Amino acid sequence: MLKIKTTYIDDALKQAEEKELLETIKKAHKTLLDRNGPGREFTGWLDLPTMMNAKLPNLNQTAQHLKEKHDVLVVVGIGGSYLGAKAAIEALKPYFKADYDMEIIFAGHHMSSEYLLDLKAYLKEKSFAINVISKSGTTIEPAIAFRMLKQLLEEKVGKEEAKKRIVATTDANNGALRKLADKEGYETYVIADDIGGRYSVLSPVGLLPMAVAGIDIEAVLEGAQIAQEELNRSTTDNPVYRYVLTRHAMLNAGKTVELLGHYEPKLHFLTEWWKQLFGESEGKNHKGLFVSSVGFTTDLHSLGQYIQDGKRLLFETIINIKEPKKDTYIAKSSENLDGLNYLEATSIDTINKKAMQGTLLAHMDGEAPSLVLELDRLDAKHFGYLIYFFELSCAISGYVLGVNPFDQPGVEAYKKNMFALLEKPGFESETKHLKERLKDVKKTR
Ligand code: PA5
Repeated sequence: MLKIKTTYIDDALKQAEEKELLETIKKAHKTLLDRNGPGREFTGWLDLPTMMNAKLPNLNQTAQHLKEKHDVLVVVGIGGSYLGAKAAIEALKPYFKADYDMEIIFAGHHMSSEYLLDLKAYLKEKSFAINVISKSGTTIEPAIAFRMLKQLLEEKVGKEEAKKRIVATTDANNGALRKLADKEGYETYVIADDIGGRYSVLSPVGLLPMAVAGIDIEAVLEGAQIAQEELNRSTTDNPVYRYVLTRHAMLNAGKTVELLGHYEPKLHFLTEWWKQLFGESEGKNHKGLFVSSVGFTTDLHSLGQYIQDGKRLLFETIINIKEPKKDTYIAKSSENLDGLNYLEATSIDTINKKAMQGTLLAHMDGEAPSLVLELDRLDAKHFGYLIYFFELSCAISGYVLGVNPFDQPGVEAYKKNMFALLEKPGFESETKHLKERLKDVKKTR
């Protein structure tokens, strides 16, 4: 389903430390599977593809019920409680929403007041339901959005009917959202204790919004099951090992940035999901590659200049979809005023692929080497496979780096300052301290 091509990576770099690194990677994989490494209590995602089968009928039933009754589902969540479903829907549904089963709108993934007000105005005339997703149940962005949307729904349809239109996906026992859901009697789905946010896309967190959007979640899980089976074998040609090996060989060779790129705009949010996965998992103790993304050919007309010619700090991982879902041909023009007749009867995908090949060679010449992940096609099954491939690669890569890939201590720093500045009870001494610091900053500017 997925092939790794290292043709566009300089041989010397490719072979650098390959043997030694491969052994380290195999050991890291074993540690992960034996549940022996840091963050071992958050490795439940390894078995999600097979475990979720039992939940499919319930998820499909809830989705069916929501689709039959309402026009819009607002999915409220941030980070791992948002990006997986968003990535799946963007990747697997048509560009223009005509045949969406139900319109899906995301909220609670930022704090734009304008967005929330515009969303409220948009929903006023719609029949809508809410899927609020938060593992901790206390994250401020989704909590604020949910409070506003719940109030709107209650005003619109009454408290009792609103309760029937809200589904909460959260922890089994803890957090404000769990308390609220139990008190109000919402339908709930549980995020298991051993599954962290950014590894939760194959749980109800990602699967329920996908099912409502009309994605075949059985096929998503089938692809992930194939990956679970194939990629957990300790063979030298395991694509996960090849990917992790290349990332670490690049890091050791002085590269500091990995760009995930694609030639299919539907993959934009997959790269956003990937950035969260790798950035939050590996960026610790002043270690790790900085992860960013590009969408080609669009970004060849912007960042392409830097990639080709700027500071030599990056390498690229390019997702190539071998067979596009649809393709079309350039038609002949009798006048040929645009000079494009040399492309007559050439398909758009052929042109896209030539752009890719040309770029891969040019970037290799410019010392920005590329690894290619070749996916046969972009459907639900391949999507599930790709998700598991990246999750497994990320966890193993984190262990090779010597960090815990399942925590995110760095995220707390901004939250502490924000809560102190908002004068949240319990933050009194930080509030005082930060106010003094802000005064000093103002004086020195
Ligand atoms: O990976 C993670 O754990 C985080 O990015 C979370 O997904 C994100 O912070 C949202 O957390 P929660 O689901 O608890 O609201």
